[in-house]
Formats: sequence, structure tokens, C-alpha cells
Amino acid sequence: MKKVVLVTGANSGIGLALCERLLSQDTEGLQLCLACRNIQRAQAARSALLTSHPAAQVALLQMDTSSISSVMKAAQEIKLRYNRLDYLYLNAGIMPNPQFDVKAFFKGLFSNKIITMFATGEGILTQKDSITSDGLHEVFATNLFGHFLLIRELEPVLCHAGLTSQLIWTSSSNAHRSAFNFEDIQHQRGTQPYSSSKYASDLLSLALNTHYNKQGLYSSVICPGFVMTNLTYGILPSFPAFLWTLLMPVFWLFWLFKQKPESLDPQAKYHSLTSGLGHNYTQPRKMDIDVETSEALYEKLQQLESEVRKKQKEKQKQESMRVHSNAGPGSS
Ligand SMILES: NC(=O)c1ccc[n+]([C@@H]2O[C@H](COP(=O)([O-])OP(=O)(O)OC[C@H]3O[C@@H](n4cnc5c(N)ncnc54)[C@H](OP(=O)(O)O)[C@@H]3O)[C@@H](O)[C@H]2O)c1
Repeated sequence: MKKVVLVTGANSGIGLALCERLLSQDTEGLQLCLACRNIQRAQAARSALLTSHPAAQVALLQMDTSSISSVMKAAQEIKLRYNRLDYLYLNAGIMPNPQFDVKAFFKGLFSNKIITMFATGEGILTQKDSITSDGLHEVFATNLFGHFLLIRELEPVLCHAGLTSQLIWTSSSNAHRSAFNFEDIQHQRGTQPYSSSKYASDLLSLALNTHYNKQGLYSSVICPGFVMTNLTYGILPSFPAFLWTLLMPVFWLFWLFKQKPESLDPQAKYHSLTSGLGHNYTQPRKMDIDVETSEALYEKLQQLESEVRKKQKEKQKQESMRVHSNAGPGSS
């Protein structure tokens, strides 16, 4: 039986490279579904994949992870199309208007965080967030909450007794506890929504393991390293793009795909690294997270989930009332 793999944000960068890599390993054994917000870009990605793997089975699905209704609609469609999902890659992500915080950089130079600052950008990468039409902060909604809702909606195809399914989050080494505020999980008051959302996804992955392992669903977190994509070109000084591409090795990680999910450490982030001699390898590193905070976040996300579901129902009710009143009396 073919394994079903769904990748969010699959039309470019890491998501697309992952799809390419998965198909290179196993063209015949996979049913791949590219879940993307822009269907034209998704079609272009599908064509590119089919050019290199003509026998591959590649389906498309429209989904905007920042939109509640889009995620709900996409989840319905997935449940109609597939009996079960083997792998769900939670990869779609944004880092809008990235800025380099010069003041924080000079402060960091004289602090004990200097090494982490250079290695991970802690404290020096800020972004400008916005609000979605659902009233959520966009980075939080796109990178974290839309994915959380998707998982919750897809329980019937992810949890099967006796079988395992795997969630794989594309996190980042820029996921820092210092950027995350439990009282402000959407990061409404800060300037590092990206780091906050990635730290929250590390916490959430741990909580998902606590709540879903018994049902055969496992969650892990990866860090792809620094990869030259649309997302990262925005951060770097405007050298010619090819220079950066040459300078930065492309780290790769489809390694988790081959691991038994039960054997993975739920508190580790799997980093994709390259040695000085160009050898690619994967290294698990303990995340700076704890069970209590992960549980508390999980609870907050569940509360938010019931709020948005309630709003969604009200919206649908109003919509159907509007349709009825437009149809007018006697129109049936
Ligand atoms: N590049 C790195 O060095 C690096 C390092 C650590 C972690 N990451 C993470 O890797 C993931 C992929 O990023 P990337 O570097 O490959 O950047 P990218 O090329 O910009 O890819 C991001 C993907 O996410 C999609 N996306 C954005 N917002 C979306 C939404 N609301 N709904 C659905 N899809 C959406 C984009 O679609 P559109 O084409 O429509 O925009 C695109 O397909 C992200 O989660 C990022 O945080 C990247």
C-alpha cells in the first residue's frame, strides 16, 4: 500500500526540496499531496516534480494555514480523499519584514549570549506582524495555530490503532524561550513573532506526543539549518543571491522519514548539519522546553480552538440566514 505524505508550504524552498527528495527515494511507494495557499504556484511545483519523476503520484490541495476556514475546508477534503495519512509535514511558515536589530546586536556583543546570538540570531531578528481576517496574529496563525487546527481536524486519518503516523515540524534554531511569553502566545506585544512561533511549535510537539502517542501518532521537530529560500533571502544583506547560495551549504533532512517514530526523542530537535568536509549528517539536540509549559500551551491552544470553532459556527449560521433572506419568501 502506498504511503500518503502531505506537505504544507510545498511549492517552494524546503517543502519543495523535501518533496523532490522523498520522490527520489521512493517514486512508486508514495502518494504525495502538496498543500499550498497559491494553486498556480502549487501547479508549477507539481509540474517540476513530475518532470523529474514522471511516474510519481502528486496531488494538490489549496490551503492557507493562516485562515481558519481554509484549514477546515482543506481538512474536510483530505478526509474525503484519504483513509489515512502516514506523514504530515508541518512546514509552511513566514517571517514577514525581517529586520536586523542593531541596538540588540551591540548589546549582545557584551553579554553572555554572544555565541548563541551569532549562531541562531537570538534577539537580533525582528519582524513586523499583522492581523488576519480571523483576528489572529499572522505569524502565529500561519506557523503554528493553523497547523494545530489541521492536526485536530485530521485525527480520524492520523490516529489508527496498531498503525503509526508521524507529524514533522520544520522548526528553527531561532526558536528561543526568551522570545516566547506564555501570557502572550500570539506574540502581540513583542517584535520576534517568528522565534516565538517556532518555540511554541517545539513545545506543542512535545504535548502532542503526550496526548497522541497512545493512538499511534508521533510528533518530531527538525531544524533544517540555514537554507537559502525565499524566506531567508529577505534577512540577508543584498549580496547577489548566488553568492549566498554558494556560501551556505544546503542542509537536508528527510532522514526522519526513515526513522521509526517510537525511537525518536520527543524532547530533541533533529538538526541537519554539514561538516567542514561537506558531509551531511543529523544530530539530535535537547530542546530548551519542559513538560509543564508544553501542557499549559496545549491547554491554551485548545481554548483558542474552541473559541474559533464557535465563531466559525456563528459565521456559518449568519451566512445561511443571509442566503435564506436573500432568497426571499416563496422562493423555495
Ligand atoms: N530557510 C531556512 O534557513 C529555514 C531555517 C529554519 C526553518 N525554516 C522553516 O522552513 C519552513 C519553510 O520555509 P522556507 O525557508 O522553505 O521558505 P519559503 O521558500 O518561503 O517557503 C515557505 C512556504 O510556506 C508557504 N506558506 C507561507 N504562508 C503560508 C500560508 N499562510 N498558508 C500556506 N502556505 C504558506 C509558502 O507559500 P507561498 O509560496 O504561497 O508564499 C511556501 O511554500 C518554514 O516553516 C521556515 O520557518 C527555514
